[in-house]
Amino acid sequence: MDEHATSTDATGGGTAPARMQALHQGAYGPPEVLSVTEVDRPEAGPGQVLVRVRAAGLDRGTWHLVAGLPYLIRPIEGWRRPRHEILGLDLSGEVVAVGEGVDGLRPGTEVYGTARGALAEYVVADPARLAPKPAGISFEAAAAVPVSALTALQALRDQADVVAGQRVLILGASGGVGSYAVQLAKALGAHVTGVCSAAKAELVAGLGADEVIDYRTTDPVDGSTRYDAILDIGGNRPLRALRRALTPRGTLVIVGGEGGGRLLGGTERLLRALLWSPLLRQRMRTFISSENRADLEALSAHLESGAVVPAVERVVALGDVAAELARLERGEVRGKVVVAVGAAG
Ligand SMILES: NC(=O)c1ccc[n+]([C@@H]2O[C@H](COP(=O)([O-])OP(=O)(O)OC[C@H]3O[C@@H](n4cnc5c(N)ncnc54)[C@H](OP(=O)(O)O)[C@@H]3O)[C@@H](O)[C@H]2O)c1
Repeated sequence: MDEHATSTDATGGGTAPARMQALHQGAYGPPEVLSVTEVDRPEAGPGQVLVRVRAAGLDRGTWHLVAGLPYLIRPIEGWRRPRHEILGLDLSGEVVAVGEGVDGLRPGTEVYGTARGALAEYVVADPARLAPKPAGISFEAAAAVPVSALTALQALRDQADVVAGQRVLILGASGGVGSYAVQLAKALGAHVTGVCSAAKAELVAGLGADEVIDYRTTDPVDGSTRYDAILDIGGNRPLRALRRALTPRGTLVIVGGEGGGRLLGGTERLLRALLWSPLLRQRMRTFISSENRADLEALSAHLESGAVVPAVERVVALGDVAAELARLERGEVRGKVVVAVGAAG
């Protein structure tokens, strides 16, 4: 294990930053803007740790950052070109260096969590966004967890307040967030109906859904069944239709949904939901997931007990990320895709 962020260069004169492979994004655009490039290895500053990345996860958010869409994200992510030139967020790996003032993490600690620039051999991380890797879980499985599973957990537990015995409808049960939502809702004791395309129905049933609806042949919100909670992860259905499928005091949690305008994405619908909510007995909720250690640890307990098993469709190399993001955009991915990073060396 290399615990140093600098090394003597090949000419023997002075020190030069060590180099690493990373997935570089110089511009917004289709996944082809990405290239595997050699860059300087970063160093951990005070309050930070340097993680040797073993695996990194992909999700819809990664695609949005590559495309720079909706434009709403650009004030934060960079107007004309991405502020973060190395892509990636979800990761698993091992701590190799610890900055001043960091407690609880040491070189050699195996971790999972989030850090910008995770699609690289090394990344600087905020310890508050990392947790020890769950026992008995592979690096690849752990890297499939963070943002998708945190989002599912927070939607069910904090937004919908799901308790045992309730009926929960998960629109978009076969994707990154949905595959965790099905398992976590079951772990909370809910009766779960998962909605996805027919091709992925078997996956969703295997995750534990009590019922699976193919949205292409059946309207899951026709009102014939009322749900205590609806997690709206895919489909962008009108609020009116979603409310029809809720119990009189049920909760709609709008998690996401693709296909809105290039400027605001699906946010017009979110704003309408928030404006209506105080006037209704039904609750309309939306949120942005929080990346934090306590919730990662809550997920670790579910992973270690086997109640939640990451639905990893495939593990690919850094050079395959562009093709996998294109598959994700076409709706071809079942569950999660993981990138094996720096397995050698
Ligand atoms: N609020 C937050 O903090 C937060 C965090 C993470 C993600 N998100 C957002 O949540 C959304 C989902 O993310 P993800 O990573 O889970 O994406 P994903 O892996 O691509 O999954 C999308 C899911 O939506 C389903 N779907 C597509 N059309 C549908 C329809 N008409 N009716 C019902 N389901 C439909 C897909 O089913 P099939 O593939 O079977 O067609 C799939 O299960 C994205 O918009 C993402 O940006 C929000």
